[in-house]
Amino acid sequence: MALFHLITGWIGYVLMCLLGLILIVFLCFCLYIKYIHLKYDHIPGPPRDSFIFGHSAILGEISNGRVIHDKFLEWSETYGPVYRINGMHIVMLFVTCPDTTKEVLMSPKYPKDSLVYKGLFNLFGQRFLGSGLITAHNHDAWYKQRRIMDPAFSSLYLRGQMGAFNERAERLMDKLADMADTNTAANMHQMFNLVTLDIITKVAFGVDLDLLKESDTLFPKAIEMCLKGMVHYVRDSTFQLYPKNKKFINEVKESVKLLRSTGRRWINERKMAIQNGEDVPKDILTQILKTAGKEENTENEDEELMLDNFVTLFVAGQETTANQLAFAIMELGRLPEILANVKQEVDDVIGMKQEISFDDLGKMTYLSQVLKETLRLYPTAPGTSRFIPNDITINGIPIPAGVTCFFNSYVCGRLDKFFEEPLKFDPERFHPDTAKPYYCYYPFALGPRSCLGQSFAQMEAKVVMAKLLQRFDFSLLPGQSFDILDTGTLRPKSGVVCSIRHRGQTAAA
Ligand code: HEM
Repeated sequence: MALFHLITGWIGYVLMCLLGLILIVFLCFCLYIKYIHLKYDHIPGPPRDSFIFGHSAILGEISNGRVIHDKFLEWSETYGPVYRINGMHIVMLFVTCPDTTKEVLMSPKYPKDSLVYKGLFNLFGQRFLGSGLITAHNHDAWYKQRRIMDPAFSSLYLRGQMGAFNERAERLMDKLADMADTNTAANMHQMFNLVTLDIITKVAFGVDLDLLKESDTLFPKAIEMCLKGMVHYVRDSTFQLYPKNKKFINEVKESVKLLRSTGRRWINERKMAIQNGEDVPKDILTQILKTAGKEENTENEDEELMLDNFVTLFVAGQETTANQLAFAIMELGRLPEILANVKQEVDDVIGMKQEISFDDLGKMTYLSQVLKETLRLYPTAPGTSRFIPNDITINGIPIPAGVTCFFNSYVCGRLDKFFEEPLKFDPERFHPDTAKPYYCYYPFALGPRSCLGQSFAQMEAKVVMAKLLQRFDFSLLPGQSFDILDTGTLRPKSGVVCSIRHRGQTAAA
């Protein structure tokens, strides 16, 4: 009995100590949060809902079905060129000040923020973007990869790929011609998703998927699932805890596995071809292979890094361009004057020609303006972030080191201090004779970590748009919603469904 009392006494004592310890840790954490508040509260920002959680609750509520960037825009208008958001002990700054945008994004001194990018190493426990180009935040590790990849994305190299861009875009035209002949409505967003995937697999990896004919393949579905999973994974850290999400999570994990196993297969096939002395293209896959053996990595680590970049290119390069094309069609569909101007330019430059040359692309300046204006209103990858390791000053406000700065091109593109009548779609803003926007327009980010695929995306978008405008008239079907869906990338809420006619053919009643 005495022993029993002794043991329960000890257990009670240990429990009391544990409780006391938890209380002390909690109090220390609260004191630390208070210290962070004292350090950063001179920076303007919306009132916090909670001492501990800061603005987390309100951010959670907004992202539920609304474009979260509209709230960021509203706060930018209210609180100015830099405002603060708290999430427990973490401070995030939202910056629209052009001088700071220039200073931070153009310098390698400010690394990508590990808080945001480390999270994408895995997706629900499955290696996803790993240490590839987008997620690498150590400057040296990133730079080694980027230096090797740059040549395969240069205009010089891509100029030689015009044949592939033309050929893949031509398949979309065949599909649209069928739809025009049979008077079938075209879901343009879906079509663009398939053609951009077709183009990237051909130009980057030399693989022929022909998705416009066989759209029911697993690969595009796997990419879509990964993109969907990514949004839940990044925005809601509790998503994995709910049993109702288990099925979805398993599907996402299987999709990641499928992407990586496809990459492994394509990489091995290319390696074999090189070993057999076959003539292989100097394409993006060949460059990915070269990233191996550059560090003191094991063979397995090398392979994993190659797969990280394989997945990265699909995630970064496919939906972004498809969404841009869909938004462009949506705007042209409701602005007949701009549509007529851009068609006129296409007719003047390429006439009846089927094969568009690299030089033709340079001559279609109004089409470039339309595509740039599309990304101003709908920046399909709407922002980037950097960690600030030293004290800086933003718009006269001293900012102590240790914060993360977010740069949001959706917000900048819609602030009337940068763009007059920001909601008006007006390609004249990007007329070659008009002054370039000063560090407030960056749909491809800026500086060393800017988009590797910018030239690729612009060439691809121009070839597809030019051919489409050359051959077809289109009208948006009634009942289309012009809302934006925020799925990490921005995309049109409806599929941009159009009726398609051959040019000159009259509209069906
Ligand atoms: C309209 C189309 C596109 C837009 C708007 C876009 C936008 C962006 C943005 C904003 C970033 C910076 C992301 C960040 O800081 O987290 C980025 C990075 C990147 N993009 Fe794109 N992108 C597009 C198309 C492409 C294409 C077609 C490819 C490849 C085929 C590509 C490959 C990449 C890569 C590899 C990076 C990481 C670059 C680095 O850090 O070195 N993108 N893109």
